[in-house]
Amino acid sequence: MASLSNVSKIAILGGAGALGSGLARRWAKAGRQVVIGSRDPERAQAAVAAINDACAAQRASAATYRDAAAEADVIVVTVPFASQKDVLDQIRDLVGDKVVVDCTVPLRPPRVGTVQLPPEGSAAQVARAILDPGARLVSAFQNVGAALLASDAAIDCDVLVCSDDNEARAVGVALAEAAGLRGLEAGPLANAAAAEALTSLLIQINRRYKADHAGIRVTGLPGDPRHG
Ligand SMILES: NC(=O)c1ccc[n+]([C@@H]2O[C@H](COP(=O)([O-])OP(=O)(O)OC[C@H]3O[C@@H](n4cnc5c(N)ncnc54)[C@H](OP(=O)(O)O)[C@@H]3O)[C@@H](O)[C@H]2O)c1
Repeated sequence: MASLSNVSKIAILGGAGALGSGLARRWAKAGRQVVIGSRDPERAQAAVAAINDACAAQRASAATYRDAAAEADVIVVTVPFASQKDVLDQIRDLVGDKVVVDCTVPLRPPRVGTVQLPPEGSAAQVARAILDPGARLVSAFQNVGAALLASDAAIDCDVLVCSDDNEARAVGVALAEAAGLRGLEAGPLANAAAAEALTSLLIQINRRYKADHAGIRVTGLPGDPRHG
């Protein structure tokens, strides 16, 4: 597993929202410093207070999207697809060689249970087109439910991590593991289309089977009980 030893702070843009606050809470509970990027200082402060309370330590702070991106080593983007471009445009000049983990799923309400990938191929490819060509972009966390992350429960779900940058992909895997999930290297950024599409399938499966937390688990890996 790649180490996060060079990462002293993680920015979560949209970190006062459902997915971002769950990830931020788990990373903070694992001992990481996190900064919640938000448009709304009060909302961000409420998220920070809840995280610090859960950790019984001051591990979270709040900032604007730009300030959060500037002060962190890794930038995680957890905003709705409709706001992804706007948020990435805001921080584009601050990215440099920081790893950017995009969690966006291109859901288009009201038909969120139907796969509707954008013309670019995926939300990850949309991000690719916005950021500078050399940006160290990772796509991950599309298939894990925010409500599970917000709990302390063990989560039976793999995180598919895609990137064209091997080191950045390994950082994505380490971030998944720091959040208590199994991260799996799943190839180039182009493969993120599959992870993004799976989210709509999971939404349908949740509806059909009256479940809340359908997730994915890759079988047949060394160390798995059923590996032959
Ligand atoms: N929820 C899940 O279980 C889950 C799981 C996997 C992936 N995802 C993906 O992760 C992303 C975030 O999902 P979420 O459920 O966390 O979303 P959310 O709670 O609805 O929104 C996350 C944050 O996005 C920010 N935001 C920035 N611009 C916005 C705008 N124009 N309108 C609304 N919000 C805006 C808001 O933060 P501020 O107001 O603080 O700026 C908001 O708290 C989405 O792309 C989603 O598909 C979600």
